[in-house]
Amino acid sequence: MSSAVPSPLIEMAGGVLIPQLGFGTYKATSSEAYSSVRAALDAGYRHIDTAEMYGNEPDVGRAIADSGLARDEVFITSKLNNPFHEPAAARRSFAQTLEDLQVEAVDLFLIHWPMAKTTDYVATWRTMLEFQADGRARAVGVSNFEQKHLRAIIDATGVKPALNQIEIHPYLAQRELVDFDTELGIVTASWSPLGRGALLTDPVLTSIADELGRSTAQVIIRWHLQRGLVVIPKSVHPERIASNADVFDFELSDDQMARINSLDRGQRTGSSPDNVELA
Ligand SMILES: NC(=O)c1ccc[n+]([C@@H]2O[C@H](COP(=O)([O-])OP(=O)(O)OC[C@H]3O[C@@H](n4cnc5c(N)ncnc54)[C@H](OP(=O)(O)O)[C@@H]3O)[C@@H](O)[C@H]2O)c1
Repeated sequence: MSSAVPSPLIEMAGGVLIPQLGFGTYKATSSEAYSSVRAALDAGYRHIDTAEMYGNEPDVGRAIADSGLARDEVFITSKLNNPFHEPAAARRSFAQTLEDLQVEAVDLFLIHWPMAKTTDYVATWRTMLEFQADGRARAVGVSNFEQKHLRAIIDATGVKPALNQIEIHPYLAQRELVDFDTELGIVTASWSPLGRGALLTDPVLTSIADELGRSTAQVIIRWHLQRGLVVIPKSVHPERIASNADVFDFELSDDQMARINSLDRGQRTGSSPDNVELA
């Protein structure tokens, strides 16, 4: 087994440490999820991001179990799927997530989407707090929450989520929401950090990659890391998986950061939280 990537750890509210670099599994089929998580753990990643929605929790669980790593060496995040917000359904779904992942507890459990028009997401948040209180989720948080959603759950319960996982990449920098999270002590994680691959041919990014002799994906991942964000790139190719983690021996200059920051155009690759609702 190779040594772990020396990813920095970020402390979330409540004291749980999360590796800043993690590994994504969205759209990975069963067999891809198993083989890519094995490859990621071999390459030294120690943080895996999955979700009930991805349909691959059993494969991710098997890959982690087969890796031979001790449970406390791998940080596991999963998420509550949209149809299961109602408290009894959430309890059943969370128990299934733990069973599928073959673990007693996850390190972080997130509400996947707020679905503010069709769910009582404040009640969902209260149910998430039960999972933390009973020790089956070391930390709980949210995903795709905007300021209004964060305010609503915090005003109602007085408890802040440990982390907010949102779409962020150079075309969608999300500065205001990241600042809002930071002011509240909420860690922000970037999903689709490479814009699902669409940013890899951007001329500004490729020219910075040429200047540094690094890949464009590595440059983008460095931009997230230097902003202090948790970042979870996905790939199913072992050589890309390893290369995406080889990002701790170089830095972007202030000028290179500024050139990447100038690419922000508010452009999503995925759905807006306002458009994801129960049918
Ligand atoms: N909370 C949410 O609502 C939410 C939503 C979306 C995603 N996520 C999480 O965030 C993770 C990352 O987001 P994402 O998977 O949407 O997109 P992403 O990580 O931005 O991009 C993944 C795409 O980039 C390609 N890629 C990766 N590394 C590459 C490299 N070095 N060179 C060339 N191409 C490369 C991959 O292709 P190959 O696989 O073919 O290599 C894949 O098509 C997900 O997997 C999931 O865990 C969460």
